[in-house]
Amino acid sequence: MKILMVCLGNICRSPLAEGIMQHQAAANGLNWEVDSAGTGNWHVGEGPDKRSTRAAHNHGVDISKQVCRLFKVSDFDYFDHIFVMDKSNLSDILDMARSEQDMQKVKLLLGDKVVPDPYYDDTQFEPVFMLIEGGCKDIIRELTSV
Ligand code: 4NP
Repeated sequence: MKILMVCLGNICRSPLAEGIMQHQAAANGLNWEVDSAGTGNWHVGEGPDKRSTRAAHNHGVDISKQVCRLFKVSDFDYFDHIFVMDKSNLSDILDMARSEQDMQKVKLLLGDKVVPDPYYDDTQFEPVFMLIEGGCKDIIRELTSV
C-alpha cells in the first residue's frame, strides 16, 4: 500500500501524518510506503516545523529527517491513497486530478472533519497530533479490516 499525506506547507500537519502513519503501520506489521507533500512551495527542501518535530518526539515518533516537497501530478499514478488535511487542500488537489480515477484516490484524512492548520498557534500542535493519530488508526482499520 502506498499512501501520500498532503497539507498546505508540508512542514506542520502532513509530516506528522507521514510519521504517525509509518509508526502505526510498522506497529501493525504492515509494509506500507508513506510519504507527504505540500500544495505550496514556500518551504521546499526544508525540514519539518520544529513544533511538529517536538510534538512527534514527545510521542516517540521521529519526523526530523523528512524533507519538504511539492505535490506533483505523477503522485496520482504512484500512490494508492492521497489523504489531505482540510478542504482547501482537497480542492487544490482535486483541481490537479486528470481523471475520475485520480479523484477517487483523494480523501480527507479525518473522513468528514478537517485537521486545522496549527502554523499560527503554538498550542495547536499537540491537539493536531492527537487528531492525526486517531485518523491514521481509523484508516488502518478501514484498509486492513482489522
Ligand atoms: P501545514 O502548515 O500546511 O500544516 O504545513 C503551514 C505551514 C506553512 C504555511 C502555511 C501552513 N505557510 O504559509 O508558510
